[in-house]
Amino acid sequence: MPGRYARSHALRERAHALIPGGAHTYAKGDDQYPLLAPGFIARGSGCRVFDVDGNEFIEWGMGLRSVLLGHAHPEVVAAVERQLRLGTNFNRPAAIEVEAAEELLGVVTGAEMVKFTKDGSTANSAAVRLARAATGRDRVAVCLDHPFFSYSDWFVGTTPMPAGIPKAVRELSVGFRYNDLASVRKLFDEYPGEIACLILEASRGEEPRDGFLHETQRLCREHGAVLVLDECITGFRWHLGGAQRLYGITPDLSTFGKALGNGFAVSALAGRRELMELGGIRHRRERVFLLSTTHGGETVALAAAIAAMRIYRREPVVEHLHRQGERLRAGFEAAVAAHGLGDFVRIDGRACSLAYATLGPDGAPSQAFRALFLQELCARGVLAPSLVISYAHRPEDVDRTLEAVDGALGVYRRALDAGSVEGFLVGPPTRHVFRSRC
Ligand SMILES: Cc1ncc(COP(=O)(O)O)c(C=O)c1O
Repeated sequence: MPGRYARSHALRERAHALIPGGAHTYAKGDDQYPLLAPGFIARGSGCRVFDVDGNEFIEWGMGLRSVLLGHAHPEVVAAVERQLRLGTNFNRPAAIEVEAAEELLGVVTGAEMVKFTKDGSTANSAAVRLARAATGRDRVAVCLDHPFFSYSDWFVGTTPMPAGIPKAVRELSVGFRYNDLASVRKLFDEYPGEIACLILEASRGEEPRDGFLHETQRLCREHGAVLVLDECITGFRWHLGGAQRLYGITPDLSTFGKALGNGFAVSALAGRRELMELGGIRHRRERVFLLSTTHGGETVALAAAIAAMRIYRREPVVEHLHRQGERLRAGFEAAVAAHGLGDFVRIDGRACSLAYATLGPDGAPSQAFRALFLQELCARGVLAPSLVISYAHRPEDVDRTLEAVDGALGVYRRALDAGSVEGFLVGPPTRHVFRSRC
């Protein structure tokens, strides 16, 4: 193993002996990166990370898109430090729980109540349970074009990794396609009176077309199903008030995570009072077990969320993401064109959440070429599994990244001309773990 990553390599051996997959999150795992990539991060600051070997990288998509303001943002850190000294968890709710709820409902103005938890998966699963309880129905309709909603059975059962999930549970999840109203209508026709909810992101790579979101909502209302918008990625990134504000739609329920706490473990389920109150104690209807965990109201993450939301409200965060993201897109496209790679490397998505696709000599998506591109970016000081921007990426970081992209594309071109990554890529190609049934 070359010296540049010697410490990472040693740590990798220990990690795999102790932790299945060598990491606690699949998306961070070794099968997602080439061998010549930083294996373990020691620290981060702004949009930079430093690995255990002391190598420095400009990071993109930081913390799986959770660190929207930058690593160790001083104002968030200060709020966390203050809270740490006041205690983290008590027998009765902490006052900060109310403060955090007011702050979130102050920006997500379509929602009337909110409950916090620790991750997006749990929030989405709570939405599904609430929808099932409210409608008395079992089926869940999942958007098949959106890669991930939850680690829970109702979702994982729809992926190519359904081991351990009972068939009966898998059969309750059905799929529809984004921007395809006919597929939504078909579901309601096929399962009349059976669908509890539809869950989707408001947009991902593609923008909603022909009133897709509003018409889907209309169909949900017509058929008595709950509309759940997953805003774990879009929240605070598409718009301060989430994609729901940008597109002018008020879902029955929506979920937030990732950027909510700028990398701290906090997520939220927000929505209509009539539904949310089913998890409360001030009604005589059947009560729903809605998000109750020891750490749900843990104060430090709530302090981080309050600090982050105040910055989102005060500073031009979304504008910055858009402006610099568009510069990145334009520069990336120019580099691709300069190398004659238009048929093989693509960048797409919203400016604030760009992703790239790598195709092989046959024009099909190629994990081998993805690994090569990642390897060559890492060699040039850029760690970019995606090109998702943060508030901490300054114009000069975009410029430096574009220089790295240019260099990496030069190697890509040569490998393509040679017909394969052999002799260019060190180690095995990357792998895709989760992809819904599409
Ligand atoms: C759109 C979306 N929803 C939900 C989740 C799950 O969130 P978490 O990993 O916090 O459980 C993810 C995670 O990547 C996601 O991208």
